[in-house]
Amino acid sequence: MDKIEKIYEGKSKIVYSTEVTDYIIHYFKDDTTCFNAAMHGIIEKKGIMNNRISAKIFEYLESQGVPTHYERLLSDREVLVKKAQRIPLEVIIRNVTAGSLCRTFRLEEGQKLPCPILEYCYKNDAMSDPLVNEYHIRAFNFATDEELAQIKNYAFLINNLLTRFFLRRNLELIDFKLEFGKFKDKVILMDEISPDTCRLWEVGTGEKFGKDRFRRGLGNIEETYQEVLARVSR
Ligand code: TMP
Repeated sequence: MDKIEKIYEGKSKIVYSTEVTDYIIHYFKDDTTCFNAAMHGIIEKKGIMNNRISAKIFEYLESQGVPTHYERLLSDREVLVKKAQRIPLEVIIRNVTAGSLCRTFRLEEGQKLPCPILEYCYKNDAMSDPLVNEYHIRAFNFATDEELAQIKNYAFLINNLLTRFFLRRNLELIDFKLEFGKFKDKVILMDEISPDTCRLWEVGTGEKFGKDRFRRGLGNIEETYQEVLARVSR
């Protein structure tokens, strides 16, 4: 399937239409932003690695019964996906304290939480993706109660599946972000799951992989994306 027209360019991806209305192509860029684009940089070949890592993870989740937008890889940087109608939420699950949770609640990083924390953010760059709860979601009509119930079920199911998936690869899933959409009246998982959207730490040493190394100015950034790709490909 070929790209027809650029319909959107985001911080890390470009979206193209195809000849089939129900399908679009995501092109993964090397650009990296964090802290709501306050930090920007290029991580060499990151787009290639994230495209392949995300495909492996979506294939695994599909095999475990989670519906996703994923269809097939088209090239190093391109993936064919279903054109879902985006639900404007970032759904975050946390298993271990890190990142903004530590900043907000003044916690020490790396403490295992007694139960996972689920957070919703309204996806809106101009508002810096504010935290919202189920009442905001209902009042502002971001999702129906039924959609939200499905989102929550999928989010916890994905947490269980991916925690075990990464543990088998000696990586601890600290936290991650999901996005969902509607396709033919069904809630499906969309966007990507990669070291840009997950915190992954080496079991035992706590060594950090992926975007955290960029956020903290640590070296060997590309190498850790490569290592995650090697491990998810096993
Ligand atoms: P945080 O600690 O910065 O709130 O991030 C929690 C997790 O969600 C972390 O794995 C990174 C991911 N995340 C995104 O993928 N995109 C975002 O815009 C944000 C805020 C977090």
